[in-house]
Amino acid sequence: RTTALIAGAVGKDGYRHYMEKELHEHPVVIGQTLQRLIDPATRRVVLPDLPFDLASVPRAVVTACGSAFYAGMIGRYWLESVAHLPVDIDVASEMRYRDPPLTPGGMGLLISQSGETADTLAALRGMRAQRQHILSVLNVEQSTMARESDVVLGTAAGPEISVASTKAFTAQLSVLACLAIAAGRQRGVLSSDQEQALVASLLDLPSRAGEVFDQSDAIREMAAVIAGARDVLYLGRGSSFPVALEGALKLKEVSYIHAEAYAAGEMKHGPISLIDQTVPIVATVPSGRLFEKTLSNLQEARARGGRLMVFTDTQGAERLRGLAEIVVAIPTVDEFTAPVLQTIPVQMLAYEVALLKGTDVDQPRNLAKSVTVE
Ligand code: AGP
Repeated sequence: RTTALIAGAVGKDGYRHYMEKELHEHPVVIGQTLQRLIDPATRRVVLPDLPFDLASVPRAVVTACGSAFYAGMIGRYWLESVAHLPVDIDVASEMRYRDPPLTPGGMGLLISQSGETADTLAALRGMRAQRQHILSVLNVEQSTMARESDVVLGTAAGPEISVASTKAFTAQLSVLACLAIAAGRQRGVLSSDQEQALVASLLDLPSRAGEVFDQSDAIREMAAVIAGARDVLYLGRGSSFPVALEGALKLKEVSYIHAEAYAAGEMKHGPISLIDQTVPIVATVPSGRLFEKTLSNLQEARARGGRLMVFTDTQGAERLRGLAEIVVAIPTVDEFTAPVLQTIPVQMLAYEVALLKGTDVDQPRNLAKSVTVE
């Protein structure tokens, strides 16, 4: 099976849907993508030669659509925290018409599975018109965006057939994490010890990602609750907020249930009025710097009758078991890699709900795999 996966063989390979197969490809795809960018001997990130110097780039502008945009949001956290690089970000359909004044010599960072998304391509052309260095993270390397970029960092996800993007997402994150590390080193803000530590946790990802599937029963239990809901609220903080956004999008896409994701700190500013026992709350809460803050948001929601479903790690599970109705505890190594690992069960949840709803999982209504028109 691994050989077939590496070859990116088309065909469901014994799975019920392409989405199920591609969910199970996360570990292999993360490993394959990292292998291209990390030298196993030195355990250092080695990017292909860039036609510009990351050390002299004053700022980056990140843009994409849909799930790729959420990957970009996580990339922004990493570029800011690991490389101290100022980052602006917006969805491509807004960026292309805002046409913001960009800092000369800046870097346009575009993310796309297909490399053909009309809005992202238009935003690329707008950035090029302002003489930005164009770096694209693409899964289809023979694509229009590839031809119009200064450099392409390829995701080794193989063909992604299901309309709902899954494995491409964690492959994009794998590239973005390596880009942030390389930028940090070249900008002189990441010591080699710090780099070694971050690389070590990246290299741990494929095996950790495989362990997520041990949580399938708890995820199916969560799906049974979600499948009966009309509205679902997703919450996350920091780099887990885009994971919540991705989880809500996946649920909408494949199960047609309305879901909204909010930054957990935003609850008090409105969404808390939504809470009652008919609206399940799905929270992505890895242990770490923001855990306590998110815990108090969840306690407030619980006090108002909210039904809590949480994705956390073994450490976080100790604190959340009494509070949440269902706890999925996955093995996260640290805050840096948490969003990559949290994504997998959140996407699995959407798939399990879609199975219960009996929708056309791989070809959801109204959706296309690549939106090549506005
Ligand atoms: C993801 O599940 C969706 N199918 C959609 O949001 C997709 O991510 C978006 O259309 C961007 O596509 P791209 O990555 O090919 O540019």
